[in-house]
Amino acid sequence: MRNRFERVRRKPCRSGVYIAALMAVSLLTSLGAEKLKVTVDLSKIPPASRQTGITYAQDIKPIFDKSCVRCHGEHKPKGHLRLDSLEAVFKGSEDGKVIVSWNGAGSVLVQNIAHVGDPDDYMPPPKNKAGIAPLTPQQIGLVRAWIDQGAQ
Ligand code: HEC
Repeated sequence: MRNRFERVRRKPCRSGVYIAALMAVSLLTSLGAEKLKVTVDLSKIPPASRQTGITYAQDIKPIFDKSCVRCHGEHKPKGHLRLDSLEAVFKGSEDGKVIVSWNGAGSVLVQNIAHVGDPDDYMPPPKNKAGIAPLTPQQIGLVRAWIDQGAQ
């Protein structure tokens, strides 16, 4: 009799655990689906510049200094990403690499500045308090070509 009572009593508890587990699984699945909805349309990225011999020091650093380093410099860099040296650019952010050598369009950094993919990651962030303007298609094309050429 006592055993039976225990079994009856325990049952609702266990199904509670199952329900909680099911809810967690469906929540995680829907979060995953939410993420997949962000499509990255690479055709929207401005074409790579035809300039050859592009280097970080000569061509790219001036762009980053003007439009990025305020938030990605040595003082509390956002996303733990610094863009004030070539080494730091290669190191990437707290989420990992932001450039893939020889593949400008496939690099997160280029997608962010070209405003494709997740709007939360558009760079510089639209309407930032510092009033830093978006990069021009020419600047984006130059950064893209720089990475296509191996990001020297
Ligand atoms: C006003 C501040 C600000 C400026 C200016 C700015 N960023 Fe950012 N950036 C952020 C913040 C905040 C994050 C972190 C976003 C997050 O964690 O969701 C970030 C993150 C990033 C990331 C990492 C994305 C990832 O998924 O790892 C890249 C790449 C990036 N910025 C590139 C740039 C570039 C290139 C410029 C200049 C053209 C720039 N940012 C200018 C604030 C800024």
